[in-house]
Amino acid sequence: MKKAYIETYGCQMNVNDTEVIFAILEKAGYTRTEDIEDADLLMANTCSVRDNAEQRIWGRLDYFNSHRKKGAFIGIVGCMAERLKDRLLDTGKVDLVVGPDAYRSLPRLLAAITPDSPQIDVLLSRDETYADITPVRTDKNGLSAFISIMRGCNNVCSYCVVPYTRGAERSRDAHSIVREACDVFRKGYREVTLLGQNVDSYLWKGADETVNFAALLRMVAEISPLLRVRFATSHPKDISDEVIETMAAYPNICKHIHLPVQSGSSRMLEKMRRKYDRQWYLDRVAKIRSIIPDCGLTTDVIAGFSSETEEDHQATMSLMADVRFDWAFMFAYSERPGTLAHRTMPDDVPEETKKRRLQEIIEQQNTISLERYRAQIGKTFEVLVEGPSKRDPGQLCGRASNNMMCVFPARDLKPGDYATVTVTDCTSATLICK
Ligand code: SAH
Ligand code: SF4
Ligand code: F3S
Repeated sequence: MKKAYIETYGCQMNVNDTEVIFAILEKAGYTRTEDIEDADLLMANTCSVRDNAEQRIWGRLDYFNSHRKKGAFIGIVGCMAERLKDRLLDTGKVDLVVGPDAYRSLPRLLAAITPDSPQIDVLLSRDETYADITPVRTDKNGLSAFISIMRGCNNVCSYCVVPYTRGAERSRDAHSIVREACDVFRKGYREVTLLGQNVDSYLWKGADETVNFAALLRMVAEISPLLRVRFATSHPKDISDEVIETMAAYPNICKHIHLPVQSGSSRMLEKMRRKYDRQWYLDRVAKIRSIIPDCGLTTDVIAGFSSETEEDHQATMSLMADVRFDWAFMFAYSERPGTLAHRTMPDDVPEETKKRRLQEIIEQQNTISLERYRAQIGKTFEVLVEGPSKRDPGQLCGRASNNMMCVFPARDLKPGDYATVTVTDCTSATLICK
């Protein structure tokens, strides 16, 4: 057997794609290795969402080239492969370029590859969902599995490269999703995360049935009360009352919603083509909290998008102060070639201003996160035991339903058990429990 080494960048969907790629590579006679020097095939599954994501990968490509054993091939797959196509081959550093919808051609491409004839397939598809492929799980503890329920994206947020790298949105056969979730549960997994760029627009039409996201959540939640269900990412314009009510109805659907807001300014949201405004977002949050009072809530924010004024920035700050997210992923705007914003909206906020606004956003959020975590002291949670805590191997760790990480003294508990803990202290990212 030959050996394949894959590094994964970008979102959780890419993590799951790497698992699909390993499954496809098995058919071509490759097993997985975590040792770069031993690999016959070195691949990076890449991300294009921001320029710094791509810069990191260029650096890794040079590293790959200096560490490959004789005769080994180097591949770039994923979003950057799709965006740059044969420009990657022109660098002379890459033997294989494969886009997110073309992984089934890997065995054919690998059979054809020689040092003088690199191979490429970056065709996007209207219907590929890899529904029939059983991913080779790469998680460390055999507990928590990612399951892609859809691919691509039909929104055209003006700043975003994803619709160009991932193609049109398509939903995967609901029964294949349930089968995969059942299969991992039988293998001992206790948590599945259903993945899509916009899970609320999931819609699968079978011969005589139509399944929306709320119905899919019910189907997966009913597999077993011991199987936790998580999902990401929700879109504020599409998250429905039915989804929120479904979450409330099933104890094993985790009470956490990742709801990227991007900006608190309605003028920015309009330019970003997010199709909601500040008030709509605040109303969705109010609805979530009225149905699930303790729902964990996290978000994504972009600082310094085209033409953003100090007033727009303050609108983001005040929205975040009002909503009080548990946690946020915060980014400086990075102009992406080919997007609507790149074509029609100048990247005109000076770099120092972007950095300063981002810093203000981060500092405010750090304070809020600490307060949100502190507010949990005294509460009791059920956690899914993951294993030893990273910081202190004498302690165990596991997440509460609201996605907060809990650390607690080791008893005779093993990964996959559920434990009831009481919060006694915290940091801005961990609950310390007994
Ligand atoms: N589908 C998800 C987001 C996917 S990309 C959604 O619609 O919310 C993940 C995050 O990267 C986005 O939420 C956004 O905050 C950020 N992002 C996307 N494009 C970006 C860009 N050009 N510059 C900076 N951040 C960006
Ligand atoms: Fe990008 Fe918008 Fe699609 Fe999210 S919904 S992936 S931000 S285009
Ligand atoms: Fe990045 Fe592609 Fe995911 S651009 S964020 S890896 S969909």
